[in-house]
Amino acid sequence: MPPRRSHRADPKQLQQRLLIWYRRNKRDLPWRKTGDPYRILVSEIMLQQTQVVTVIPYYRRFIKTFPTVSSLARAPLQKVLKLWEGLGYYSRARNLHRAAQVIKERWKGKVPSTVEELSALPGIGRYTAGAVASIAFNIKTPILDGNVRRVLCRIFAIRKAPRQAVVQDRLWSLAAEILPEQNVGDFNQALMELGATVCLPRTPSCMICPLRESCRAYQTGLQDRLPIRVKRRTLPHHKMLVALIQNGRGLLIGPRPERGLLAGLWGFPEIDWKEATTSLQIEEAIKNRLGLKTNLLRPLEPVVHTFTHKRITYHPYLFNCISTQNRLPASWQWIPLDKIADYPLPNATRKIFDQIATDRLPLAAEQPAVYRKRKNVLGERQDA
Ligand code: ADE
Repeated sequence: MPPRRSHRADPKQLQQRLLIWYRRNKRDLPWRKTGDPYRILVSEIMLQQTQVVTVIPYYRRFIKTFPTVSSLARAPLQKVLKLWEGLGYYSRARNLHRAAQVIKERWKGKVPSTVEELSALPGIGRYTAGAVASIAFNIKTPILDGNVRRVLCRIFAIRKAPRQAVVQDRLWSLAAEILPEQNVGDFNQALMELGATVCLPRTPSCMICPLRESCRAYQTGLQDRLPIRVKRRTLPHHKMLVALIQNGRGLLIGPRPERGLLAGLWGFPEIDWKEATTSLQIEEAIKNRLGLKTNLLRPLEPVVHTFTHKRITYHPYLFNCISTQNRLPASWQWIPLDKIADYPLPNATRKIFDQIATDRLPLAAEQPAVYRKRKNVLGERQDA
């Protein structure tokens, strides 16, 4: 018998052990109870960048409301975004909605089965196409997400930064090489499951790992150090002022710009911190932007939100609208407090709104008038 190359796990043994472990230990997740490719597609899109526990209630509500491709395809986008509210990365919801329309028209309502066809749908990359093709159609195709990347880096003791393009290519190849001929969907899910429950980032539970004997990192004592961690650069930090403007009818909200961060959701007017820092400047900025005269009443609690590429601290302020005429852009609306939650709001906006949600209009000032003129929005004195 030729000597076994020590850095190679035996694929057959690895497949068998992993599949047996998966059947015994897999979590009981709602998308694992269905073979419906549409439901599997919905789950995989929701699971992008999001943990299983967070996704479960969203998935259940979504499938209850949109049980089929065509029910989703004909729904208004606002309804889809409302169901997605709080899950983040809203482009996923917009793309899924469009994908349902393409599936309905181009594929007569049936989710396509090949990686190429799936990848051509809006919002579906290599990972999601591979996941749906293998899980829903048992097509022999690999997947690589964060969990699988970690498992493979350990099994094959890969000592280079896993996000480097050449290393990514290598990991995709390894993920393909170890696939079994059958039960590909289970095998791919088993890799993810192992990464999510056993082969954890900081404290891998090697003692209960079914792949311990095939794992090069374990054999060489590197399991805590692989994959190597690359220090993340610190995110740029921005400040935004958020204006909650009330009149007798309600609070002013409008749709966010159609492109960019949080497109399609609704929100309060936002003003870049650089544009205005004193109450008079903010009132001026609101006048320029919306044609409204306002009076600052009081600050609310700041809310910090971290996006993929930046962190924003929102500084919300409550205003009275004192304009008599209304020259607002048509899409901006005065909405009573108890109706605001009907609109899809980003998480941070929701947290801001929750600070006054149960109050009654008009929302009163809590600060003496001198605050408005003498101090800037942080409450610092303005000596000018
Ligand atoms: N993460 C991504 N897809 C998953 C799945 N099908 N099961 C569990 N976690 C996942």
